[in-house]
Amino acid sequence: MNADSDPGEGATGSITLPVLAEMKRRGEPIVMVTAYDLPSAQAAEEAAVDLVLAGDTAAMTVLGYTATTPVTLEEMLVLTKAVRRGLRTPLLIDDLPFGSYERSDEQAIASAHRLVKEAGCDVGKFEGSSAERASAIVSAGIPVMGHLGLTPQATTALGGGFKAQARSAAAARKLIDDALALEAAGCFALVLEAVPPEVAATVTERLGIPTIGIGAGPATDGQVLVLNDLLGIFEEFKPRFVKRYAQLRRATVRAVSSFAADVRARRFPTDEHCYAMEPGEREHFLAALQADA
Ligand code: KIV
Repeated sequence: MNADSDPGEGATGSITLPVLAEMKRRGEPIVMVTAYDLPSAQAAEEAAVDLVLAGDTAAMTVLGYTATTPVTLEEMLVLTKAVRRGLRTPLLIDDLPFGSYERSDEQAIASAHRLVKEAGCDVGKFEGSSAERASAIVSAGIPVMGHLGLTPQATTALGGGFKAQARSAAAARKLIDDALALEAAGCFALVLEAVPPEVAATVTERLGIPTIGIGAGPATDGQVLVLNDLLGIFEEFKPRFVKRYAQLRRATVRAVSSFAADVRARRFPTDEHCYAMEPGEREHFLAALQADA
């Protein structure tokens, strides 16, 4: 896609909702990752993932907030537009940030419309069990992904900190009921975060829509990781469910330290980093300097 084009033009990816449904039917694992800017979106595109989430984890991993709650819709729009410019094939999902959907169906629809119309995302995602909200957004023409279990926007309400959920029989029962209600409300998929594997397996078996797990064991239809966790860029803390596939923070520190050392030792720049004067101009330049002297 041309980076200057209408954001809606980006929504031509080959991963569609029927493709996802078919992947669940065939038992083909669905791969989802977060992205927050152009380079991370381009990496996700090149790695041929199925789903990209412009996640509100950007609040912590990119913007430096200590939780996801402070990030605003305006900030999500800026980040998501950059992600859109780097994607063609995966479906682009946008998180509705805290405060942009809880007040009313109208508020949720207005926020979701902005994410689609201004940032070019394909579908929305929101945290929590409100089937009414899911149904309202879907009825307004925007497909919705649900998110149950550990919902980071609600960590205070969930008892503080990033804690696993649905660990008691009663809580597991409620999670299954909430998942069924979100499916009935029209959600096309569901993220399950930090729940025991047997609970996630039961939800996955009982739902017709795909489940995407993060800390939910191996039985979900797909898996998602936060990009800056899997790349080892975000090192403030590491949830149990994170697997690091690279150590980019350390590699970045090493690279910047090498640059600093080269500058201080006058090893950089060298001739290969310099621009030559036009042919014959150096002699004119030196002659002119001599005439000045
Ligand atoms: O915002 C996010 O990155 C998420 C993932 C944890 C699924 O919601």
